[in-house]
Amino acid sequence: MIIRCERPEEFPEIYDLVKVAFQTAKVSNGNEQDFTDELRAGSGYIPELALVAEEDGRLAGHIMFTKAHIVGDGGRFETLLLAPVSVVLEYRNKGAGSGLITEGFRRATGMGFESVLLVGDPAYYHRFGFVTAASFGIKPKNDIPEQYVMVRELVPDALCGVSGTADCF
Ligand SMILES: CC(C)(COP(=O)(O)OP(=O)(O)OC[C@H]1O[C@@H](n2cnc3c(N)ncnc32)[C@H](O)[C@@H]1OP(=O)(O)O)[C@@H](O)C(=O)NCCC(=O)NCCS
Repeated sequence: MIIRCERPEEFPEIYDLVKVAFQTAKVSNGNEQDFTDELRAGSGYIPELALVAEEDGRLAGHIMFTKAHIVGDGGRFETLLLAPVSVVLEYRNKGAGSGLITEGFRRATGMGFESVLLVGDPAYYHRFGFVTAASFGIKPKNDIPEQYVMVRELVPDALCGVSGTADCF
């Protein structure tokens, strides 16, 4: 499986991939494919951190890390939002999701990013070192249940002293 940056000519295929993948997600609002397009059109888009997994010349999965901020009394702290991650049904449970996440971490760390934030299922994300954002005093600006808002330091103690509201969901 190859992990590489997404290409503009693939955007329509990625839209469909995300839409179909989330039809079997535990939690979905049905808009993840449009959210992907919005993130790509936004100022936080980082082409180097929008990745696909390719297997036998086919797209098997997709992930996006975009710039986000935690805003609190201590100021405005830059972080990454991991959203969304999608794997085509027939390629699941073969490590594509894990590969996209860990390769994203590796590239993001190399680019100087220090932490990642997401809304997701703790049962899946704990294995990648994500912990509840509330344990750092980081909260969403809306009413997402706090156990689903998670953070992961890419650099040890990067979130030490960082608290506030995530501006991205
Ligand atoms: C979640 C997703 C990206 C995982 O992709 P994948 O390529 O199958 O993941 P991996 O092969 O790296 O890991 C598979 C493992 O994750 C587990 N897993 C997958 N989704 C899970 C979930 N929601 N909760 C708990 N565990 C989950 C599998 O049971 C498997 O466990 P095992 O290693 O103990 O056998 C994929 O299932 C998907 O696209 N789902 C629909 C979209 C979605 O839910 N995205 C995440 C939003 S939070």
